[in-house]
Amino acid sequence: MSSRSRWAVGAVLAAALAGAAANAQPVPPAAHGCSGCHGPAGEGVGTIPPIARTMGVADFDAAMRQFRADQRPATIMNRIARGFTDAELAQLSAYFARKE
Ligand code: HEC
Repeated sequence: MSSRSRWAVGAVLAAALAGAAANAQPVPPAAHGCSGCHGPAGEGVGTIPPIARTMGVADFDAAMRQFRADQRPATIMNRIARGFTDAELAQLSAYFARKE
């Protein structure tokens, strides 16, 4: 497969995932900055891990709080998480986490 068509497949997949997420609920403002690294629907890009429905709400919230408190190994997420209030972390968990 050429790199061009591989890109096209990825773009179609990302669009499909973004559509699925958009249908479920509106994107909270706090989540706008996540897509640049984690992909439009949180599906993961290259070495950046996927975050869409990979964990339950409690685990997602715990991961973000651990990043914020520098208690989870991170290269960048510790700095990103520091910018969010508890309420915003709850919105992010509700948006990205798996509903259980
Ligand atoms: C600058 C790129 C970047 C941005 C922006 C970013 N992330 Fe991350 N994220 C990463 C990287 C890299 C990791 C792996 C941990 C690390 O090295 O910090 C990660 C890891 C995570 C993890 C842990 C995943 C796992 O399975 O352990 C969660 C949850 C997460 N990010 C959520 C978010 C949320 C929510 C946002 C938006 C508020 C966000 N990230 C924005 C780069 C980013």
